[in-house]
Amino acid sequence: MKKTAFYLLTDSHLVSERIWEEGSSISNRERGDQIVLIDTPKILDGFIEKILADPEAETVIFTGDNVNSGDLASHEDFRARLDRLVAAGKKVCVTTATHDYCGEGDDENFFHAVRYTKDGTEPTPFMRKSGLFDFYYDYGPRQALNVHRESGSYCVQLGEGVRMILINDNGNGRSHCGLFEDGVAWLKAQIAQAKEAGDFVLLAVHHPVIAPWEVYRHVVDFELYGGYRDLWALMCKEHVRVVFTGHTHVQNIQKYTDENGEWFLDISTIAMANAAGKMRRVVIDPDAGRCDVTSVGIDRVPGIDLQGKTPFEHYYGLNFPGILQRILPLAETDFNAFLKASRGVLPTEQLEKYRLIAKPVLRRVLKMKLSTPAKFGRKYNGMTRDECKALRDKPMMDTLYEILKHIYTGNAPFPPETVEFRVVTGVTARLDRIVDKFNIKKIKEIIPPGSSLTEIVEAFLYNNRTGDDDAISFDLR
Ligand SMILES: [Fe+2]
Ligand SMILES: [Fe+2]
Repeated sequence: MKKTAFYLLTDSHLVSERIWEEGSSISNRERGDQIVLIDTPKILDGFIEKILADPEAETVIFTGDNVNSGDLASHEDFRARLDRLVAAGKKVCVTTATHDYCGEGDDENFFHAVRYTKDGTEPTPFMRKSGLFDFYYDYGPRQALNVHRESGSYCVQLGEGVRMILINDNGNGRSHCGLFEDGVAWLKAQIAQAKEAGDFVLLAVHHPVIAPWEVYRHVVDFELYGGYRDLWALMCKEHVRVVFTGHTHVQNIQKYTDENGEWFLDISTIAMANAAGKMRRVVIDPDAGRCDVTSVGIDRVPGIDLQGKTPFEHYYGLNFPGILQRILPLAETDFNAFLKASRGVLPTEQLEKYRLIAKPVLRRVLKMKLSTPAKFGRKYNGMTRDECKALRDKPMMDTLYEILKHIYTGNAPFPPETVEFRVVTGVTARLDRIVDKFNIKKIKEIIPPGSSLTEIVEAFLYNNRTGDDDAISFDLR
């Protein structure tokens, strides 16, 4: 049988050029976020260019949060880009999520479609949830083998020997974002039919099925796919090996294994609108039963002069957390400029109010070398002479920035053999003892049962899960 290749993108959060004017309103909105907003149409164009240059990949999948806040103009612009793909002969499959519509008042969806004027906002026409199915009917449901009309989920033949079931979360994105009972029955029937036909089945859904980190599940369980435990059991029982997800905006590959050794992967893809946005390129070899997943970013943004930088370098300083790295050094050199730049990102009023304390404390922290936390965490004495010297030279903030930078991109660079790993886990181990000794409830609440601050933080220091968040190859059988 022929191999099948496809691309999968998620969380494009498109903001139409028609819903903003140059000014403080849109730029403040973007600064407070962790994704690019203004340039999203051009970034999507960059991805489309890349897809069109790849004749092997026949299908392009988008798993929701296609636009940023449900406005109609952004949906129209998004759909126009889908048409470019269709015109080039690609099959396009779209599902939608909570950012794609505005609520009716009783469904806990709090998105408001606005147009950003020079210094404020005004209402703009928007999409209702009930309008999404028809609006995107030609991009998935029309080509489907089977459609679950109530949720908007559908099953498509991706290629020889392989189908994909695209689940449309038909909850409200808060208290429930999964399928309801009849949707689950439909899903089971689709899996059964695929097996009967001898096809492999892949799943895609917006919300995470396995949390990127255990602390995520512990703190915001409701952000996970509603009924995820049932889906774990179903995927293990039916040998469905992979579900592609989005929503967390995090590049992350997780494996779940049950007590019988049955397993599946949740391949979560970073938001396209992240400064380091990527898409997944997936190749299925049905005869060998193989699935190879790699990740592809863009190197240019059509219409934007990157001045020799990569898109990541160009956009990283624009919003959280890159903005911290850009503005915090100002606290050392020009505190007033720092306060001004901190608006919308840090609690500027508090910093202003407690300036007499904040200024010297921040300066000290910014000047601190890694040897200070190493001593606090009782790791300094155990280091070699060369390591101690390195710790006395390395600014502590560089390590923190590096950790923050990799929250979304995955593959953080501090495995156990690095000094950074030993210093950070030394600090958290000491904090764990302090939290225990003084029974600090506020912190205990965020720690999953049986876990610790050290275990939480380790997951952010390096990939202690599947080894690589960008690529994986696995057996579909
Ligand atoms: Fe999103
Ligand atoms: Fe989302």
